[in-house]
Amino acid sequence: MSDDADAPADAAANPQAAIDAASAARAEGRDPRLYEHTAGDDQRGIPFVGAGPGDPRLLTVAGRDLLADADLVVHAGSLVNSELLAEYCVDAETVSSIGKDLEELIPLMRDSYEAGDTVVRLHSGDPAVYGAALEQMDALESEGVPTYIVPGVTSAFAAAATLRTQLTLNGAANHVAFTRPQGKTLDAEDDHIADFVEMGDVTTCIYLGTHAVPETMDRLVEEGIDPETPVAVVYHASWPDEDVLTGTVATIGDEIEDAGYRASAMVVIGDAVGAGDYERSYLYGGWANRGPDDDSADDAGEEVEAD
Ligand SMILES: C[S@@+](CC[C@H](N)C(=O)[O-])C[C@H]1O[C@@H](n2cnc3c(N)ncnc32)[C@H](O)[C@@H]1O
Repeated sequence: MSDDADAPADAAANPQAAIDAASAARAEGRDPRLYEHTAGDDQRGIPFVGAGPGDPRLLTVAGRDLLADADLVVHAGSLVNSELLAEYCVDAETVSSIGKDLEELIPLMRDSYEAGDTVVRLHSGDPAVYGAALEQMDALESEGVPTYIVPGVTSAFAAAATLRTQLTLNGAANHVAFTRPQGKTLDAEDDHIADFVEMGDVTTCIYLGTHAVPETMDRLVEEGIDPETPVAVVYHASWPDEDVLTGTVATIGDEIEDAGYRASAMVVIGDAVGAGDYERSYLYGGWANRGPDDDSADDAGEEVEAD
């Protein structure tokens, strides 16, 4: 946190001070809007909308309606399908955020909003996953512009659909980790990919790691991970040029180099990739269908929610 966290923040001039002030305020207490909002209510301000993984049909209905009313849509560039923009942003000016810093983006959105325009910030997938949404929201809020999030389908979910599997599978994959490889943003000591994979029952979904697959796999082997661990790479999940590479920790590095993908792919590691050797859930085995008095817990006291 910077030294001037308590100072009034001029977000357009100094987004970091606005972010620090917002973080400090959150440490003091929750935003009262957390308790006021009810699902389905209209909210005020600039929505941060998840565009989904690419296929325009995977945009939510809420997102589509917001885009239909928008005058200005600031979008995430190449990860947002231009067909989606053409189809749903009919009357809006569309601006890519690629190459723009907060000092440029915040005044752009603020000025348009204050001029009475309907502004939408469109992120790829879901804004809450590797989306850098909060820093923009903090900066806008400190300028007096309310914001809120409209979720979207994150690319790991689109990749699971492509792979015709579940990210969680009883007995095979009890947990999911969304992670990214070490690099400029993530220090080596904060790279936990080997820890997740070593656990054995975690489906590890690597975002922002297409370019780093060979070295990531080499590192896993060096750290003692079984080279036969299944891995899939789903390039451009849900796009017309979607492609799937499947292999193991030992083989996938060569496969992706041969394919030439350097960005826009989801790397999925673990037994869920092959969807083999899983156990049936209790859901459809009788425990969940025992009668009207017992709809929330099984014999072991576990929550049972049909899905
Ligand atoms: C900046 S992150 C944004 C993630 C996004 N917020 C989400 O929820 O999917 C970009 C990374 O997401 C992944 N990604 C985004 N769209 C994808 C798609 N259609 N197929 C596969 N991976 C995708 C890639 O790993 C890419 O490097």
